[in-house]
Formats: sequence, C-alpha cells, structure tokens
Amino acid sequence: MAGNIKLHVEDLTISFKTTQGLVRAVRGVSFDLHEGETLAIVGESGSGKSVTSRTIMGILAGNGIIDDGKIIYEGEDLTKVDEDHFHEIRGNKIGMIFQDPMSSLNPIMKIGKQVTEGMILNGKHLENRYKALFHESKTTLNRLHREKKSLKVELKENLKAIKTGDSSADGMVLKEECNAALANVKAAIPAAKKKLVVDKKAAKIAIALEWKNEQKRVAKLVSDVKANLADSDGEAKQAYIDEINVLQENLKRFKKVTKRQATERAIEIMNEVGIPDPVRRLNQYPFQFSGGMRQRIVIAIALTASPDVLICDEPTTALDVTIQSQILELINDLKRERNLSVIFITHDLGVVANMADRIAVMYAGKVVEVGTAEDIFYNPRHPYTWALLSSMPDLDSKDRLVAIPGTPPNMLFPPKGDAFADRNQYAMKIDFERQPPMFKISETHRAATWLLHPDAPKAEMPEVIKVRIDRMLAQSEEETV
Ligand SMILES: Nc1ncnc2c1ncn2[C@@H]1O[C@H](COP(=O)(O)OP(=O)(O)O)[C@@H](O)[C@H]1O
Ligand SMILES: [Mg+2]
Repeated sequence: MAGNIKLHVEDLTISFKTTQGLVRAVRGVSFDLHEGETLAIVGESGSGKSVTSRTIMGILAGNGIIDDGKIIYEGEDLTKVDEDHFHEIRGNKIGMIFQDPMSSLNPIMKIGKQVTEGMILNGKHLENRYKALFHESKTTLNRLHREKKSLKVELKENLKAIKTGDSSADGMVLKEECNAALANVKAAIPAAKKKLVVDKKAAKIAIALEWKNEQKRVAKLVSDVKANLADSDGEAKQAYIDEINVLQENLKRFKKVTKRQATERAIEIMNEVGIPDPVRRLNQYPFQFSGGMRQRIVIAIALTASPDVLICDEPTTALDVTIQSQILELINDLKRERNLSVIFITHDLGVVANMADRIAVMYAGKVVEVGTAEDIFYNPRHPYTWALLSSMPDLDSKDRLVAIPGTPPNMLFPPKGDAFADRNQYAMKIDFERQPPMFKISETHRAATWLLHPDAPKAEMPEVIKVRIDRMLAQSEEETV
C-alpha cells in the first residue's frame, strides 16, 4: 500500500481572528497521504478536520490565518503558491466534496450546466497556454508586491515601537534593515514589470502563430478531402463530408473544449458515478434529485477535472444509512478505478471501518493517534481513540452507545497540557501540565499520550472496548475465511 507520498502536511497551525480572540483551530497537524490510499481523519465535531481540509483546498475562511506549517503537493508548498496557480491545482489535481451536496450546487442552474461549467473553463486550451507562458514573471511580480506590502507593515511597527520606547536597543538596527530590504524590493519592481510586459507580448505572438499554423494545417487537409469529394458520389461522398465536419470540430477543440464535447464527457461521468438516464437528467434542477443522487452529482463535478487527490468531508453524514453505504461504495470504486488518493473525513469511526487504509484521529486541533486501520481498530493506544471506539454504533450487537463524557475544550483557550485530560479517566498529573509528544508504537503506529511514556503506570483499556475488539477480530476472521 505504501506508495509514494502524494501530499505531505507538516506542523500545520491555523487560527481564526474573532471578536472574542484567536480560535486555535489547528495546532501542529502533520500527516502524509500516500498514493492510492484512503486516509481517514476522524474526530468529534470541532476538532479541526474541516479547517485542515479547507486549507489544503485553499478555501480557508477570510478570518483564518496559517500561522505555521507546510502542505507539500508535487514539490510545491500550497501555503505559499499564489492565488492564480492555486486555482489550477485546486481545480485540476485536488478535488473536494462536502457534507451537504445542496450547498455545493446552484439551486437555480440546470445540472448539465453545473457539470460542464468547470470543463469549459478549464478547457480553454489556447488561453490557458497563453497564460502559462508568462506565469513565472507574473508570479515574480506578485511576490515582490507582497513583499513590499509586508515590509511596509513591518517598518511601521518598528517605527511605532521606537516612538513608544517599546523597542529594544536593536530597534534602530531593525528599522535600518527593514528600510534596506524595502529599497531592494522597490528597486526590483520596475524590471519585473517590464519583463512581464515583454513576456506577455511574446506569449501573444507565439499563441497567435500556433493558432494560425493549426488553421493552415486543417485548411490544407480540408481542401484535400474536398478534392476527393468533387470526384465522388453516394456513400463515399457522405464519408468525405463527415470527415470535413470532424476536421472542423477538431479545429475548434484545439482552441477550447466545446460545449458539445463537455456535454459528452458529462454524460460519461454521470454514468460512471451511477446516475441513471443522464441525458434526461442534464436538463433538470438540483431539487429534482434525491439526496444520494445530488451527492453523486457533486462527485461527478469533482471528477470532471480528473483530480488525483479527492478530499471527502463527511460526504455521507446527511444521508440515511442505505444511501450512505452506496456512496461509500462509489467512492471506493472510483478510488480503485482512477487510482485516486483519498482523504476521508468523518466523526464516525464506524463509517471508515471498511474503507480506510490508515486513520488519523484528531482531537482539539491535533492528531493524537495515527496508524493503519488495524492499528487503530485492534490496538488503539490513546484514551481518546478508546472513547471514540466505545461510542461507535455497533449494528450487530445492539450495544448501547457510550457517549464520550464531557465536552471538547474551548479553542479560544487551549489547555496547557493534554487537551483530553479533563475527560480522561486515566489522566495523570503531567497530563494537565505538559502536552505529550508523539510516541512511536511501531513503524506504522504513533500516539500522543503520556500513557506511552516508559515511566507511566500501566493502563489497560476499558473492558467494553476489549470485548468489542475481540468481537471485531472474530468477525473479520469469519469474513476472510
Ligand atoms: N471561520 C471561523 N471563524 C472562527 N472559528 C472557526 C471558523 N471556522 C472554524 N472555526 C473553529 O475551528 C474549530 C475547528 O472547526 P472544524 O474544522 O470545522 O471542525 P470539524 O472537525 O468539526 O470539521 C472549531 O472550534 C470551529 O468553531
Ligand atoms: Mg467539519
């Protein structure tokens, strides 16, 4: 399973500015997503799952700040790429589906238009190639402008500190350094501007030439066919006429994805995601679809861009149980057929039992345990994972749900020690004082709990979980026999 690393998240730290203060939503989250695997991120509501995934997608709310960390995708840090380029990645490589399909669909636009829209936008071949030709110089100029802006802010703060006497002896030095850096950036801007203008002009010429050559090439082919056409009749004549039509259609496609082409593709993908009678369905509106079918449409829209990473944020939470398992099955099939790497987010461990290769358990903005599905289900080590397991609905045994006692901490004031300490019957003194590091349990398995410290007293997981694990093990043995 352990393919190449598709996405590497390291020490991701995100907070939100609110009127009450800073909400520390994500606090140093790290994980890898391997090629072709399903990584489940599991945790109670409010643990930071959606904020993490929205940040990967570049759609963090306006009051959110990335305080620290990296998101490496194909060698690039997504926290640092500029908006234009991020759009390319987001639209084409990383797709996302949300809990409520209605909120990602436009209620007053026909389904067909919604499925083809992105393809038509992304399919402006010549225009996109034109933009790519001066992408680098544009990025450079944007970066310089950003640097100029942040240096100005820094300088202002330095000056204020000097004025109010808050500044240390280094204040003047800092100010000078800031001034020098600002002067450098300012000096570099005119040349960068000029380069952009030159590159844009060159790009325009190159693309115009490309288009002209293609037109010429096709015109030549068409005239050859026309010559044959003149000497023929009947079926042969019709074949030549068809050939000319194809040549002309292809010429249009050279420039951009045509509406017809996008519609053909939309029908294929709607078939792929199990929407019956797609041709008729194209002309309907979202309200004419059931919840499950709407979620299939949202999945189809995500697939039109041929992503290789798919993030599913509680995609089945709003659906009833039978529909839920159909959608899970669909995601599994798509993953296999398209070799997708999937991040599957849920508050319910039970949902991912049959689909996750690996599981990261999140609590209060941190990953508290990570391992293979076997590690987490059969050898859980963090008391929070124990609690999640015991609160998992068990359909076979009619066990009553054991709700996790207490509530998660208020992330305006994250606790000093282990955030789960308050709710943890195994908590020791140190749990209230210091945050536990990640302890390595095996090559695949890690957990952040002081219980794993060599000096900690031995703590056994609760009896009900042991029973449950034994039953799950017996069940899985039965299934594999
Ligand atoms: N735009 C926002 N402004 C302030 N706080 C936010 C915002 N978005 C999310 N949060 C807070 O961040 C924390 C994590 O939220 P979220 O990632 O949505 O949790 P979940 O694990 O349920 O998906 C929560 O405490 C939530 O209230
Ligand atoms: Mg969420």
